[in-house]
Amino acid sequence: MVCLGNICRSPMAQAIMESLVREKGLDWIIDSAGTNGLHDGESPDVRAIEEIKRRGLKIGQQRSRKIQKSDGENFDLILTMDYYILNECKKIFANKPHLKIECIMNFVSPSEVVEDPYYDGSFDKAFDKIESGCRAILHRYLKHY
Ligand code: 4NP
Repeated sequence: MVCLGNICRSPMAQAIMESLVREKGLDWIIDSAGTNGLHDGESPDVRAIEEIKRRGLKIGQQRSRKIQKSDGENFDLILTMDYYILNECKKIFANKPHLKIECIMNFVSPSEVVEDPYYDGSFDKAFDKIESGCRAILHRYLKHY
């Protein structure tokens, strides 16, 4: 799960997907990172922590980290919150043409993205979009099991 700062959208996405895969009994390993590294080592934004808590989940233990080239070795699927991040990831993993890199909302509707809630505080909307994306991804992949 990848966003810009790894303090708002992708920490929520990690927690939501972890919760859904646990519910389905899957052993997928979920992680999150940001492309800009500006908040390295920081806790998630308090508004994201509060929204996640309101939905019965927890992200306070997560720490922001910048995405690494090695993530391309360690993960099968890179999910980005918007198209800017998608393009950044495509540059980072340019030497891995077979790595799957997708916008999370592409599994719901290619015209949608998870807008950054950092400035306008729309964390509830971000949560709902991320959850719909996660559910759509699980549906897509589980059909192939
Ligand atoms: P995120 O939100 O990418 O969803 O974690 C942001 C957090 C911080 C900044 C930008 C976006 N920032 O520039 O500090």
